[in-house]
Amino acid sequence: MADKDDIREGKNFHPEIPHESENFFLKGSNSLDWGMQNRLARIFRPDTGRTVMLAFDHGYFQGPTTGLERIDLDIRPLAPFADVLMCTRGALRTSIPPSVAKPVVLRCSAGQSILTELSNELIAVDIEDAIRLGACAMAAQVYIGAEYEHKSIANVARLIDTGTRYGIPTLAVTGVGADMTRDERYFALATRICAEIGAHYVKSYYFEPGFENVAAACPVPIVIAGGKKLPEPDALEMAYKACDAGAAGVDMGRNIFQSDSPAAMIQAVGAVVHDNAKPGAAFEMYEDLKADLGDRQAAE
Ligand code: R5P
Repeated sequence: MADKDDIREGKNFHPEIPHESENFFLKGSNSLDWGMQNRLARIFRPDTGRTVMLAFDHGYFQGPTTGLERIDLDIRPLAPFADVLMCTRGALRTSIPPSVAKPVVLRCSAGQSILTELSNELIAVDIEDAIRLGACAMAAQVYIGAEYEHKSIANVARLIDTGTRYGIPTLAVTGVGADMTRDERYFALATRICAEIGAHYVKSYYFEPGFENVAAACPVPIVIAGGKKLPEPDALEMAYKACDAGAAGVDMGRNIFQSDSPAAMIQAVGAVVHDNAKPGAAFEMYEDLKADLGDRQAAE
């Protein structure tokens, strides 16, 4: 109960100490509201400014992708090693227990399949459901130069507008159709368009030469997708080069969940992204962890 008689005069005002007003650590995000920044600070580690997002949203247009046949068995054990889970609401509700307690970036577009035109997407998740699921960001694809370019940009703009109302950031994914080029000119165009329409961060692919120019010209953080499965040393080298050239981490799927040892691979990727481990050292770490996990599995 409130005790009016016991109200004491405050003494610890410290008028000599100015109130701190820190700059937000993430590129392009300093003017965002508290909720936006808080969600971004759960996606990107404030101590490194980078993230390891585990992407397993592939089923939304390509069905049971290799390595994702059973999200409950394949992905759930990897969650402790990821900074963020990127997935559909269906995968989340059916296969990832809420007690996993990792930040979620929710895939909010759908509407096509690998059998049809990839760029013909729509926004397939209502903002209310994203809020209900506690999403830290929403994601949709922009397909620059594709048949449904205009529609895909409109989708992302809509997510940005609705998300801004509730403090939820938007990740714009630069989708690349089967026949589209993956060079500096293309990604400079695509990533810059995403940032200028208001995306809070952008997913791109890594490419050479010129990734550093694209990262510099994009005023918000870029994370790289892994793309098709590569041998582990090559995937680790790609992650290293991307971060070295200005990427703020990875949003990686197949190069983790299709690896011979997904749990070892995600930890090795984490060492590259957060500790700047050199690709060779990260691969050694991968081999050691893989052997260790193999031994433990054999003993069980
Ligand atoms: C496409 O299905 C999604 O945007 C993926 O999340 C993205 O391509 C990252 O996955 P991966 O590393 O397998 O390319």
